[in-house]
Amino acid sequence: MEQRVVLVTGGASGIGYAAASAWARIGLRVIISDINSEAGFAAEQSLLSTGANVHFIATDVSRSSECTNLISEIMSSHGRLDIALNNAGITGPAAKLADYPIEEWRRTVDINLFGVYYCLAAELKAFTAQGHGVAINMSSVYGKRGVPGGSAYSASKHAVIGLTKSAALEYGKRGIRVNAICPGFIETPLTKGTESAVPTPIMDSLVARSANGRYGSPEEIAQAVVWLASDEAAYINGAAIEIDGGFLAA
Ligand SMILES: NC(=O)c1ccc[n+]([C@@H]2O[C@H](COP(=O)([O-])OP(=O)(O)OC[C@H]3O[C@@H](n4cnc5c(N)ncnc54)[C@H](O)[C@@H]3O)[C@@H](O)[C@H]2O)c1
Repeated sequence: MEQRVVLVTGGASGIGYAAASAWARIGLRVIISDINSEAGFAAEQSLLSTGANVHFIATDVSRSSECTNLISEIMSSHGRLDIALNNAGITGPAAKLADYPIEEWRRTVDINLFGVYYCLAAELKAFTAQGHGVAINMSSVYGKRGVPGGSAYSASKHAVIGLTKSAALEYGKRGIRVNAICPGFIETPLTKGTESAVPTPIMDSLVARSANGRYGSPEEIAQAVVWLASDEAAYINGAAIEIDGGFLAA
C-alpha cells in the first residue's frame, strides 16, 4: 500500500502531538504544523529519532495565506494529502461575555474557527482533485454546551461543528469525509496552562462528575482519531463525536 500522508495542525503539543505520534507508529508520512517553531522542530526531532517519516512546517492557522501555502507545500513535496487533523486551538482567557477583551475574543475565533476553515478549504481542494480525503476538525464538549467565562471558546467550537456538517454534505459524494471530535478534559498544556478559560479547581470538579471521573490522556484521543480517519470508519461522515469519558452524559 502506498504511504498515506497526514497533516496535523497544532501538532507540536498535546493532542496534536499524540495523534502525530500514533500515525507515525503505524507508518504514515506525518506533516506537523504549528505556530510554535521551536516546539515544532523539537517534535519533529523526537519523532525522527523513532524512525518516523515526519516533517515540520511552521504555520499560523489564523492567516489564510499561510494555510493555503501549507497545503500547496504538502501537495508539491508529497503529491498527496490523505488525512488532515485540523487541531490547532487556544482557550482564550476567562472573562464574562460583556467584559471579554474584544481582541482576545477575536483571536480565539480567528484561531479556533477561521483556522479550521482556512485549512479545511485548502484541504478540500486537494481532496477533490485526488478523489479522496478525510478531515477531522477539532471541536470540544464546549462545542455542544456553554461554559461560563469561555463564550469565545464555546462559540468557536460550536461553529466548528456547523462547518463540519456543511462540508460533509457538500463533499461526501466525492469520496471525502469531514467529521468533528469533541474531547472532554484532556491533560495537556491547554488544560493545565495559566491562561485556561476554565480554572483548574472548577475543571477538577467537572471532571469528577463525568462518568469516568478522570481526565483523559492525549493518547486516548489519538487512538480514536486514528480509527476515525481509517477506512474502518468509512460510513462516519458529518458527525461530531464525543470522546469525553462521559462528561456530556452527566
Ligand atoms: N485539552 C483538552 O482538554 C481539550 C478538550 C477539548 C478540545 N481541545 C482542543 O484540542 C486542540 C488541541 O489542544 P491541546 O489540549 O492539545 O492544546 P496544546 O496547547 O497542547 O496544543 C495546541 C497547539 O496549537 C498550537 N497553536 C496555537 N495557536 C496556533 C496557531 N495560530 N496556528 C498554529 N498552531 C497554533 C500551539 O502552539 C500548540 O502546539 C485545541 O483545538 C483544543 O481546543 C482540547
